[in-house]
Amino acid sequence: MSHVAVAHPNIALAKYWGKRDRGRNLPAVPSLSVTLGGMTTTTRLTTADVDALWLDGTERAGRPLERVSAMLDLLWSEAARAGARPRACVESRNDFPTAAGLASSASAFAALAVAGDGFLGTALGVERLSCIARRVSASAGRSLFGGFVELPAGAPGDAHLPAAPLAPPEHWDLRLVVAVTTEGAKDVGSTEGMNRTTETSPFYAAWVDAAPALARRVREAVVARDFEALVAPVEQSALAMHASAIAADPGLLYWNGTTVEVLRAVRRLRAGGVPACFTIDAGPHVKVLTLPEAEGEVTRAMSELPGVLRTISARPGGGARLVEAG
Ligand code: PMV
Repeated sequence: MSHVAVAHPNIALAKYWGKRDRGRNLPAVPSLSVTLGGMTTTTRLTTADVDALWLDGTERAGRPLERVSAMLDLLWSEAARAGARPRACVESRNDFPTAAGLASSASAFAALAVAGDGFLGTALGVERLSCIARRVSASAGRSLFGGFVELPAGAPGDAHLPAAPLAPPEHWDLRLVVAVTTEGAKDVGSTEGMNRTTETSPFYAAWVDAAPALARRVREAVVARDFEALVAPVEQSALAMHASAIAADPGLLYWNGTTVEVLRAVRRLRAGGVPACFTIDAGPHVKVLTLPEAEGEVTRAMSELPGVLRTISARPGGGARLVEAG
């Protein structure tokens, strides 16, 4: 028995940062993302005596394997299956560098949910798979769907909270240029970073207060395909999220010097009439959104900045799907 699924990473235009309920992994704020084509995680499950995990050709034990087993257990219990869950050898490969700051956990857990569902024969449907992926990594719940995707904030105690598609990839040919500013892995992961922000940042409450209106404005701009209207709420969502993180104790400094130079360069481009705006996740890379006619100019401008190691280009892509079963 072998089942293979593919999934793509996603970038939030309106950020998720902070959990309402840690046990259920419910977001405190609504988020809106675009799933990226081109970059792919491919995950194969085959029958085994015990669960095993291979990531990019290297066997992994400990926490990564525990998270994989936990997701397979969730699929099994969600389908109310009796008896012992079949064990799986999970082989997962990314065709993009994990240090590029493109949340590989999102595509990894989305691909695992779909491949696991096929392997276990649980036939849960995309909504329940999104809900299960979201419980393991909130952004993974969004990568189940292609194009533009929303994940609402959770209410305390919510048992069911899937992401939902807003518009397919063809809706809007946005382009994303990632300015890679370091090859190293980030120091503080997003779960630890957002929990520290929640517990210690005097600005966390202000962030949670401001985020829903920003997500609504991002949504309206995406629906209307209005780039000019997208710029302000996308940049404010990222900056307000980082402001809350910077004010934590100890403060979370995800940026390096080049990050700031890229932000300034994006604003210079925009002042010169180029459609471009930035977003930043829990790391030092900058993701620049633009339109097809300006992608070349944005890529050139980013590549020429001292400190930018390279750029990666992406555009909206499809959701997680099974590509081989049998
Ligand atoms: O889903 P997680 O736990 O990897 O957190 C993602 C957090 C951000 O990437 C910073 C924002 C987002 O909405 O993707």
